[in-house]
Amino acid sequence: MAELNRAKITAVGHFLPDQKLTNHELEQMVDTNDEWIQTRTGIKERRILKDEDKATAHMGTKAAQEALQQRGIDADEIDVIIVGTVTPDYLFPATGCLIQKAIGASNAYAFDVSAACSGFLFSLTTGANMIESGRAQKVLVIGADKMSSILDFTDRSTCILFGDGAGAVLLEESSDETGLIDYVHHTDGDTNQLLYQPAGGSLNPASAKTVEEKKHFLRQDGRAIFKKATVGMADVSAEIMKRNKLSAEDVDWLVPHQANKRIINAISNRMGLDEDKVMVNIQKYGNTTSGTIPLCLYDWKDRINFGDNLVLTSFGGGLTWGAIYLKWGIK
Ligand code: ACO
Repeated sequence: MAELNRAKITAVGHFLPDQKLTNHELEQMVDTNDEWIQTRTGIKERRILKDEDKATAHMGTKAAQEALQQRGIDADEIDVIIVGTVTPDYLFPATGCLIQKAIGASNAYAFDVSAACSGFLFSLTTGANMIESGRAQKVLVIGADKMSSILDFTDRSTCILFGDGAGAVLLEESSDETGLIDYVHHTDGDTNQLLYQPAGGSLNPASAKTVEEKKHFLRQDGRAIFKKATVGMADVSAEIMKRNKLSAEDVDWLVPHQANKRIINAISNRMGLDEDKVMVNIQKYGNTTSGTIPLCLYDWKDRINFGDNLVLTSFGGGLTWGAIYLKWGIK
């Protein structure tokens, strides 16, 4: 069998709205307190995109532009744009199409991936497979969500968890041993509605009734999701380490989806990793859904060394979860 081209990340960009929403501000909105939020989730503040005329495509565009600038290439060199999001600007056209136009990627085709908090992970492997097959040379993979657009800011069990933000990476063929080496992805169709947005799709189109019943907001069974996310991400991270013969010493960085600091602690304990190898920025941004993993890569990019072993892992609505093992390829 012919050798596959390996795909590697060659640039990382990001976007975060300037406006912060602190736990103390949330105390004025719902019956909660800073101590409860910090102890139960690890979150201190999150960013909210306030501009009424801007949404997910705007954040994805800014993140993509920063990645292109970092790599020093023009947008018309991009072959494909893949956007992980559950808060697209419109149900259609895809947010990827809006970003394609905004950045001027005239030779690219674009589409969205709906996998909730695993949106970035699933998009990254989709893009990597395109590079591996030789069908594409430059793929922009974006994770972007404006979670504030689907949050009920009178529901203390959900509105404290999420924030807005976006990250983007450029994938290209690797000419060395670095790049995306392995992945494990899973889905378990959520027919019990543990985590979902009830209305706005074809089953429950928007109506005065769906608005009145608050069915356009995210709903979740927090305790059930907590357990499933902890077990799912810990299992899949252990599996990818085992099948790639990686010991805890071999893993330089764990890049976990930022849903809850207690979930992250449970995963890193199971993997036997010291705290200083675990990327955590949930205290600043909350859960930005598809944004969390690329935002971690962005925040840590100056500390990751060429050739470092990274394990990325996520869990989200769908239910969807998975892990990626990659060797960092930026010098
Ligand atoms: N402030 C104060 N009290 C609160 C709040 C709040 N914001 N929210 C809930 N409580 C109360 C509850 O009403 C409950 O009170 P009771 O004991 O009188 O009934 C008490 O706190 C404990 O509630 P639990 O739901 O058991 O709290 P738990 O420790 O499970 O934490 C949380 C809740 C933070 C939602 C947790 O379950 C969680 O993080 N789940 C994962 C959800 C998630 O991350 N979803 C995102 C998408 S999926 C993903 O990204 C992995």
